[in-house]
Amino acid sequence: MAAKWLKDTIFYEIYPQSFKDSDGDGIGDINGIVQKLDYIKELGCNALWINPCYDSPFKDAGYDIRDYKKVAPRYGTNEDLFRLFDEAHKKGIRVLLDLVPGHTSEEHPWFLESQKVQKNEYSDRFIWTDYCFQGASGLPYIGGESERSACYILNFFKCQPALNYGFYKVTEPWQKSFRDPEAMATREAIKDIMRFWLSHGCDGFRVDMAASLVKNDDDKKTGTSAVWKDVRRMLDLEFPDAAMVSEWSNPPLALRAGYDMDFCLNEPGGGYSTLMRDYYNHGGSAHGDRNAEDHSYFKKDAGGDINRFLDQYLTWYEDTRDLGYISLLTCNHDTIRPSYTLDPRELKLAYAFLFTLPGVPFLYYGDEIGMRYLDVPTKEGGYFRTGSRTPMQWDGSANLGFSEGKTSDLYLPVDTSADAPTVEAQEADRDSLLNTVRAILAIRHREKDLQADADFQVICSENDKPLVYRRGSLLCVVNPTGGKLETILPADISETIHGEVIFKIGEASAGNGRIYTDAQSFAVIK
Ligand code: NOJ
Repeated sequence: MAAKWLKDTIFYEIYPQSFKDSDGDGIGDINGIVQKLDYIKELGCNALWINPCYDSPFKDAGYDIRDYKKVAPRYGTNEDLFRLFDEAHKKGIRVLLDLVPGHTSEEHPWFLESQKVQKNEYSDRFIWTDYCFQGASGLPYIGGESERSACYILNFFKCQPALNYGFYKVTEPWQKSFRDPEAMATREAIKDIMRFWLSHGCDGFRVDMAASLVKNDDDKKTGTSAVWKDVRRMLDLEFPDAAMVSEWSNPPLALRAGYDMDFCLNEPGGGYSTLMRDYYNHGGSAHGDRNAEDHSYFKKDAGGDINRFLDQYLTWYEDTRDLGYISLLTCNHDTIRPSYTLDPRELKLAYAFLFTLPGVPFLYYGDEIGMRYLDVPTKEGGYFRTGSRTPMQWDGSANLGFSEGKTSDLYLPVDTSADAPTVEAQEADRDSLLNTVRAILAIRHREKDLQADADFQVICSENDKPLVYRRGSLLCVVNPTGGKLETILPADISETIHGEVIFKIGEASAGNGRIYTDAQSFAVIK
């Protein structure tokens, strides 16, 4: 069963490099996040996911960890992070850290020991073949770099050797079973890291590449799932309030393995999911081809069919609603920002839909003001992802209020366009994207029927009609088209509706068993 506090939770994802620089060195830091907690609270988010903020050579933006228990000096100290937990909790905000269990940095002391000829405690902490010319049959590997005459398996980039959780199907002499003591020792090491942060006040973890642990584990049901069930048992006993969200993109598997929430982002096996592609239509191309034909449902008159999204979503939802939550996100540090293809009005409708679905939603910093995907050179292994990682745009001051440091020292350049959106400008405009997001999050907190657990039923999702869905006793309607639409409600539904519009974007009304919507509108009806 998922942690109870998730019932009315909306997460805000912070890429710490780019959120707020408190000491003028050009890079965001923990104290900067503390300074902005009131902003996050007023926005309506009551939980954070912070990308890895640990000691690292930063060849993959911190997903290459050198010391799991130490805050990277560029972000501050462990004490700063403990204080962030405290300050956040005082304001009713929970904090998830990023757990990277599948790999370390090649500079992690475990790996430095592991690559030695002399047998030691860490020799089997990573996955090694048994000879320097013996490759790893199908798995990515590196040879020729270690003192030890063997090759090691990678989990992602070259800088990220895979930790050893064993193999489900053992097919080579050098492969160890996932039940072997060495694989168990890795599990214990990860639990130890979790205990460390949880006992200092963190509320749980976003788990990187959660499906990647046990190798040769095709269906993930027995091998990799066993690791997470084991972790869940530890949490239930020692930290029953802790929550975990997986980067797995298979809610039926992830939630059965003990996760509270699973992101729907990557299809198992990699690549961007059809789910997000149909939702925003830019995930299909990793490079975000702006000229590609755009079939996002929320794009005015693009003719997009929401059923491509709903078919997958409803199957997962029905299968998992008693187990935990599906987490949808506006985007994240690995994807193209939604403003790449959607204009502010289209974004309002897309977000209104996302934040009125069941489960636990995530908002990526800057998406609330429609920050743009920028064409910038790669930084710290970001490649095309770098364009979604630029500094938060707070106000019209130097560096858009992100940093008081020298512009030439900034971690990444800020948006220099004259109309770059900022929090300050949008706060002053009642109709801005920011104020609309605030209003949507506020109504979600006010109406239990819009929160994680309330029933969800699609009433009408035909492509030439608006999308109408029921949440508990409320009806929601989205008309993304450029024209007025009228929908006849099924009799059993119309009997339960008074017709009072309690929230709207654009114009909408209800009466006589019908819903009337203006072009590009959204409404919640009682
Ligand atoms: C997924 C993370 O979100 C991404 O940023 C990272 O590069 C890989 N996992 C490797 O850890």
